[in-house]
Amino acid sequence: MHRLILNPSQIITADTNGVGYKRGNDLNKIELIENHSIVIEKDIIKDFVPNTSVNKNQFDEIINAEDNIVLPGLVECHTHLVFSGSRADEFKQKLAGVSYEDIFRNGGGINKTVNSVRETSFTELINIASKRVQHFIEQGVTTLEIKSGYGLDFENEIKLLKVINHLNDKFPIDILSTFLGAHTIPKEFSSNRNGYIKLIIDKMLPAVSKEKLADTCDAFCESTAFTKDEVDLIFNKANELGLRCKLHTDQFNSIGGIDAAIKNNAISVDHLEVIPDDEISKLSNIEMVCVLLPGVSYFLNHKYAPAEKLIDNNAIIALATDFNPGSSNISNISFIMSLAAVKLGMSIEQIISAYTINSAKALNLSDKLGSLEIGKQADFSIYDTNNYADLIYQTTENLNIKTIKKGKIIFDKNGG
Ligand code: NIG
Ligand code: FE
Repeated sequence: MHRLILNPSQIITADTNGVGYKRGNDLNKIELIENHSIVIEKDIIKDFVPNTSVNKNQFDEIINAEDNIVLPGLVECHTHLVFSGSRADEFKQKLAGVSYEDIFRNGGGINKTVNSVRETSFTELINIASKRVQHFIEQGVTTLEIKSGYGLDFENEIKLLKVINHLNDKFPIDILSTFLGAHTIPKEFSSNRNGYIKLIIDKMLPAVSKEKLADTCDAFCESTAFTKDEVDLIFNKANELGLRCKLHTDQFNSIGGIDAAIKNNAISVDHLEVIPDDEISKLSNIEMVCVLLPGVSYFLNHKYAPAEKLIDNNAIIALATDFNPGSSNISNISFIMSLAAVKLGMSIEQIISAYTINSAKALNLSDKLGSLEIGKQADFSIYDTNNYADLIYQTTENLNIKTIKKGKIIFDKNGG
């Protein structure tokens, strides 16, 4: 099958010349191509050809992109979208001044969603989550990460991972599954935290690995969750079983998570709202990605991560929604991009790099997707504008009109 994306106003390639990520000054270089069309062969990008030399008869399908811009398919690299129930009552409390951490200490927070998820069947969770996955696809997402972490016992963590794997089979995009058994201590282990950590290490992780239910292992290093030594034990076991790690850290307190992540060769550290300066330097010039989640800072009215300092220090920055019911009930990528611009001080070019090639790097996939380069997967999002600056200017608007995965149109706003 030969397809052609014909005559877009701008092609934003986010090309890295094979490096697979952008940092420092390169984060601003989106490597724009104009007056070209894109040749797709099967599921791969075959060529960029000048519009003047296009022979339309050579193609089985022509996708007209006149007056549109083409981007790499977006990579949403941090979500918790398989959950049931609502935490609207907690949001009300937050607006009245109660902190996220105090809500947790009073028995709410993550454990409230755990109670709900344990009561929700596999099929019902698929139904709820499918709508959310579809919403991401309609915004141009072609690769999506989803974490477990609302089961927190053997049966329910496995149930969540199976839901995520089922979604990967059901939808045409790549859905990556992350095991987050170490999200917090479940209430039945509140006076036996070592017992829960032992359950993760001796039972959950071996089963997850044996049944190939997860691509990565995550944990939450925080005073209301796990210490750096506990994270180290869990990550050590995950690595032994062949699972790469990612870490929620430095969200409210900086308690050594970055050291634990570096020690265990994690692929990303996520959050970093309160990261101190001396920890920032540890992220300079290494390949571990810093995933920034400005939706959380907005939703909790909390500090924003020091994006500019991280960029100045040559860290690799990615962006994501962190879509979850408690700290970022936000699945609108345009809004996240706008927050990144206005609140993190990032340029639109930096934001595009962070939501494409660098978020692919945060999932260890940047050798095959995340940028438009010959030989890479033919994953695209096509936007109804002729100027990429509209991606942040048109705040909260979904400008995506076509999502293309492995060369096939999987979402077409105009139906054709
Ligand atoms: O990424 N930080 C921990 N986990 C989620 C919040 C989950 C929740 O509140 O349900 C986060 O912010
Ligand atoms: Fe998260």
